[in-house]
Amino acid sequence: MKEHILSWLSTECPWRDTLYWYDTIDSTNTKAKELAKDGAPHGTVLIAGHQTGGRGRLGRSFSSPAGMGVYLSVILRPNCPPEDLMHLTCATAVAMCEAVEKASGIRPGIKWTNDLVFRKKKLGGILTELSVNQITGLVDYAIIGIGINCCQTIGDFPPEIQDMAASLSMVSGKLVTPTSLAAAMIEALVDMDRILLAEKENIMDLYRKDCITLGQEILVVRGGEFSYGTAVDLDADGGLVVRFADGCVRTVTSGEVSIRGMYGYI
Ligand code: BTN
Repeated sequence: MKEHILSWLSTECPWRDTLYWYDTIDSTNTKAKELAKDGAPHGTVLIAGHQTGGRGRLGRSFSSPAGMGVYLSVILRPNCPPEDLMHLTCATAVAMCEAVEKASGIRPGIKWTNDLVFRKKKLGGILTELSVNQITGLVDYAIIGIGINCCQTIGDFPPEIQDMAASLSMVSGKLVTPTSLAAAMIEALVDMDRILLAEKENIMDLYRKDCITLGQEILVVRGGEFSYGTAVDLDADGGLVVRFADGCVRTVTSGEVSIRGMYGYI
């Protein structure tokens, strides 16, 4: 399978030699952390055909059935303070819109901050995890984990997410193979990595264009507290600027943001 992915990748791709394939693994992010702790270099890419413990944001699981999606993690070592990487998930989301469009012809939207969506259905998600060196204060490694649904039919998703999830094959009407998508994702991540620190403003402008949350009525859930508002903008680091029902404007950087009319929020 690794050879197959390599055959789709440009011979110039700098991450070809640090690509690892796993038929089955618990989570590529968990494995990437182990490899990073053991010194794996910048640009180490892990791809699995199947995850038994795929992880999402906020402690959720990510459904990762065999052969039906791309489950990929990459290790970056940008050697910068963590504050310089606040936009990492946003930059990855824009790169994944490019990759998905290249592989399937469909350009997804981004539901802030890390969901790839098409017509209100979730196609995939991103989980970024950072480790900071306690002595230097610099990022030791960043793990970017991405899961994208390729060829599932609705019955392949767990019943509890069947009304929220979709695959690229379902929304494009074409067969999108995990191998071609994986290659497009790696190429897009290499391009993103080249501009990540130098072109933050441009990246956030691109994110704004793909972000479907802006202008929407939303529900923010943080620490068990529910607040209603409207998403009005994104700040320079990718924080969501919200005008709350009481008129206050505040920036949300974490927690769950639901859009009215999506994923069961009516
Ligand atoms: C989310 O939807 O909240 C994020 C999902 C991220 C899933 C990917 S699949 C590859 C990598 N390994 C994991 O365990 N998670 C990420």
